[in-house]
Amino acid sequence: MLVNFNEMLSRAYREKRAVGSFNVYNYETMRGVLDAAVEMGAKPVILAFGAKYLENMSLQDAYSMALSLSRQRDIPVCLHLDHCSDLDVVFQAIREGFGSVMYDGSGLPFEENMANTELVCRFAHACGVSVEAELGSIAAGEASHEGSADDREVYTDPASAREFVARTGVDALAVSIGTVHGLYKGVPNIRLDILEEINEALKKPLVLHGGSGIPEKTIHACIRGGVSKINVNTEMSSHAVSELSKRLEGPKLPHLSVLSLEERSFISDVVKKYIRFFEVL
Ligand code: 13P
Repeated sequence: MLVNFNEMLSRAYREKRAVGSFNVYNYETMRGVLDAAVEMGAKPVILAFGAKYLENMSLQDAYSMALSLSRQRDIPVCLHLDHCSDLDVVFQAIREGFGSVMYDGSGLPFEENMANTELVCRFAHACGVSVEAELGSIAAGEASHEGSADDREVYTDPASAREFVARTGVDALAVSIGTVHGLYKGVPNIRLDILEEINEALKKPLVLHGGSGIPEKTIHACIRGGVSKINVNTEMSSHAVSELSKRLEGPKLPHLSVLSLEERSFISDVVKKYIRFFEVL
């Protein structure tokens, strides 16, 4: 069943769990994520289609495929538009049937980010769609497919976050507290003190981007601090690519259909690992 993420996230927030938001861009990644969610005991899951994957798949195809696959499974599934700074694409995703959208105005001045986010919220909420926005800025680690190498860390300011949420009516806020998009070069330095202040100020589901490579204990501390949605992308890709590349080393190359099945199962492995981290405190 396709749903918006409000109910999923507010329940997760109350129960101190997080819902996994996993990036998808083809049949194999969607199947890999959904198979893992079913196998882990019918967990709610977010299929995050990044605006940067529009060359891989159109919004319409992503919606049709997610609808068909979710109808065949008895789990709540949210099709979410991840990181999109283009308002036209955001509105198109809402019209297409996505359950939630992330309008990413984090690169804009505060007032402009707030005005655009408020506009998105008005349109999305009238259509029963949830909205995520971002305040602060997340740096790029290794092998990241998001943002750019020059992205610098700017921590989310709790007082600005309070004003932003009150004025825009956004459903979930992505915070910058030291996570990076991509793999960490050392041990992540996550500012749980900032997270705690933001959580106190908002009492709303918070979103952690850059989930790949965060140690389990740190994930649990973030969930206790109000994080209810955690995004994972890089590790799914790096695990699948490194395992698939081993299949290409032998004297006889496998058929593409076999690689496609294996891709799905490698994606599932990583998703299962994170679902386990997100559910057990
Ligand atoms: P990683 O690629 O670091 O897992 O981050 C994913 C993400 O934040 C998607 O929005």
